[in-house]
Amino acid sequence: MKCSMYLPLSLLFCLCSYIRTCFADNAPLQDICPTTTQIEKNIFINGFLCKNPNNVTASDFKTSRLNHSGDTDNFLRSSVDFVTAAEFPGLNTMGLSVARTDMAVDGMVQPHYHPRASEMFYVSRGVIIAGFIDTRGRLFQQHLKEGDVFVFPRGLLHFCLNAGFDLATAFSVLNSQNPGVMRLADAMFLTDSDVLQKLMKKMIGLSAMELGHMKNTTLMGLEENVSS
Ligand SMILES: *[C@@H]1O[C@H](CO)[C@@H](O)[C@H](O)[C@H]1NC(C)=O
Ligand SMILES: *[C@@H]1O[C@H](CO)[C@@H](O)[C@H](O)[C@H]1NC(C)=O
Ligand SMILES: *[C@@H]1O[C@H](CO)[C@@H](O)[C@H](O)[C@H]1NC(C)=O
Repeated sequence: MKCSMYLPLSLLFCLCSYIRTCFADNAPLQDICPTTTQIEKNIFINGFLCKNPNNVTASDFKTSRLNHSGDTDNFLRSSVDFVTAAEFPGLNTMGLSVARTDMAVDGMVQPHYHPRASEMFYVSRGVIIAGFIDTRGRLFQQHLKEGDVFVFPRGLLHFCLNAGFDLATAFSVLNSQNPGVMRLADAMFLTDSDVLQKLMKKMIGLSAMELGHMKNTTLMGLEENVSS
């Protein structure tokens, strides 16, 4: 009898925690909470401290950090500028952050994921191929033109590349004030670990046979989307 009482309760609890995870970050307990940098950083909390409410101004809610193209003179011919609550005080407790991606001709953003946020990706200039890979290894990829919006689900590996003949620019909104970025190549190649390097050697050795197949599916995905 006791069990049958607990079952609906635990179901309700599960449902509540499921619904909560659909939203990013915690609900704010007050209207606004612009980040303060006045206090010495010898305490650690989940987020940032708020400014004194009397000292909050309209300029806390504006940023011009994304008003210019980033430097694309690098190996990947791209730049990604993230603006989080650390740089943009007004974002603190809002569960949001923004980013700007610029890609020169042939530029790309290497596969990466955000452990704490989904990303809405709005193309403001150029032609971009964007895609993500789900946990079943399926590729979801699209050809985007100016004005198009694509969504990268939270925690899934995604990438984009310039598929046009001119500079391409996209703006992103992410539903966390601190989405985090995990870059696959950096994690695997730049991490200073003998074990990881051994693993990489093994993986590359093993996958050499499968590489042809992998290339095939990627190219097929591209062609499908280019022709649609
Ligand atoms: C609030 O603003 C006043 C006047 O500009 C300044 O003197 C004071 O240090 C500020 N306080 C905080 C906590 O930022
Ligand atoms: C971007 O904003 C900064 C700070 O407001 C300003 O100095 C700069 O001129 C702006 N750049 C462009 C291209 O508008
Ligand atoms: C690559 O794709 C072609 C045509 O779609 C197919 O015939 C071929 O078997 C594929 N190769 C591999 C290694 O999967």
